[in-house]
Amino acid sequence: MHSAAAFRERTSGISMTIEEKVAKTLAELGAADAQGVESAFAELRRAAEHERAELIARGASDEGERDRVCKSLRDRWLARKGGLLSLADEHWLKSASKGIKPVAGRQFNEFRRFAACLEFENLIEAVPLQQAAERQMELSLSPEIVRPTPRDLTLPGFCRPAGSIHPISRMRREIEDIFLNLGFRIETGPEIETTYYNFDALNIPESHPSRDDWDTLYIDSKTLLRTHTSPVQIRAMEKYGAPVYIITPGKCYRRDNPDSTHSPMFHQIEGLAIDTDITFADLKGTLDFFAKKLFGEKVRTRFQPSFFPFTEPSGEVAVSCFVCDGKGCRVCKESGWIELMGCGMVNPQVLRNGGIDPGKYSGWAFGLGVDRFAMVKYDISDIQLFFQGDMRFLEQF
Ligand code: PHE
Repeated sequence: MHSAAAFRERTSGISMTIEEKVAKTLAELGAADAQGVESAFAELRRAAEHERAELIARGASDEGERDRVCKSLRDRWLARKGGLLSLADEHWLKSASKGIKPVAGRQFNEFRRFAACLEFENLIEAVPLQQAAERQMELSLSPEIVRPTPRDLTLPGFCRPAGSIHPISRMRREIEDIFLNLGFRIETGPEIETTYYNFDALNIPESHPSRDDWDTLYIDSKTLLRTHTSPVQIRAMEKYGAPVYIITPGKCYRRDNPDSTHSPMFHQIEGLAIDTDITFADLKGTLDFFAKKLFGEKVRTRFQPSFFPFTEPSGEVAVSCFVCDGKGCRVCKESGWIELMGCGMVNPQVLRNGGIDPGKYSGWAFGLGVDRFAMVKYDISDIQLFFQGDMRFLEQF
C-alpha cells in the first residue's frame, strides 16, 4: 500500500517519494531558504494527511486486519527508529545549515505537534471487503468528496493551530473597552464617503491641502475613500442628535507610499462627546483618564495648541513616556513624550452642519491612529508588519 511507486503515482509532478526525501538533507533537496523549508514540511504534512484519509477510506475486513494496517501506518510515521518523523528530525533538522536551522526547528516542532494528533490507532471500523473496495474507488475517482468515517466519532480530529487576535484588533478592543466603560457607544460609518461628509460638513474648505488629489484617493469628484473617521461625527449627529457620546473605530485611506510609518490604509478611532455644558476641562479629564488606563497610572498628559478646521480650539495630546517615565529613551526618541492624537472642542459650525444648536450644546472630539498606538504600546518599529501576514510576527500576540 505504501510502496514507493504508489506514492510516486499519487504525487504527480514530484519525482521523489516522501521516504526518499526524508533520506536526504534539506540542502540536498534544494531547500535553501525559509520558503523552501516550509514547502518541504508542507509536503510531509500533505503526505501524512493523504495516507490517513486513504487508510480510513480503505477500511478493513476484520478487527485483526484493522489493527495491523493502523499499526503499520503509525509505525511508518511515528516509529522511534526509522519512522518518517524521526528521519525528518535526523536528516532535515539536525543537519540543517545555520541559516535555515531556526525555521527548520519551528517547522519540525509544528509537524511533530501535528503528527501527534494523527490518531492512527482505532481510526477505521472493520468494514466488509466489498465496501472497502467501493470506498477505495471513490477515493481514487475524486479524493475530495470522500467523507472519512472514523470508527468512534468522539475521537479528536486533526489539530488545527489556534489563531490569535491581530495586534491592531487587540489595540482597538483595548481602547474600545475603556470608552465603553465610560458610557460611550461604538458607531461606524462607510469607508467610501462623500466629499460632503469627509470635508465640507467638517468645515474643511475647498482650498485645504488634504483635499488635493495627491493626498486623497478619489473614486469620482464627489466620492472618495475616507481620509479620517471624522465624517462619522456628522453622521452620528444627524442620526442621534444631542446628547451623543460615541467612539468610531475604522479604516481610513490616504495617498501615502508605504514605509515603516506610513500605509495607504490605516486605522483610526474618533471620539465625540456632545452635551450641555461640555468644556475643554471635560476633554482634558477624559483623555487623561484614558491615557492612564492604557499606559499606566504613572503617565501624565500634555496638551499643546494645534489647528483642525473642525475643532476650535484644537490641541495635540502627548503622554509622558511610559517606558522611561519621561527621562528620554528609544521609544520616545529621547524627548520624554509620545505624541498621541489630535483633539479639540467641536467647531460650532460643525455642530450646525450636524443639525445641533451650538447655542444649547457644546462638545469635544479627538482622533487617534490605532496602528500608531499599537506600535508604541507593543514596541513595533515597522507598520508594514501589521499587513504582511507573517506568522512569525503574528504568533507573538
Ligand atoms: N481627523 C483628524 C486627523 O485625521 C484627527 C482629529 C479628530 C483631530 C478629531 C481633532 C478632532 O488628523
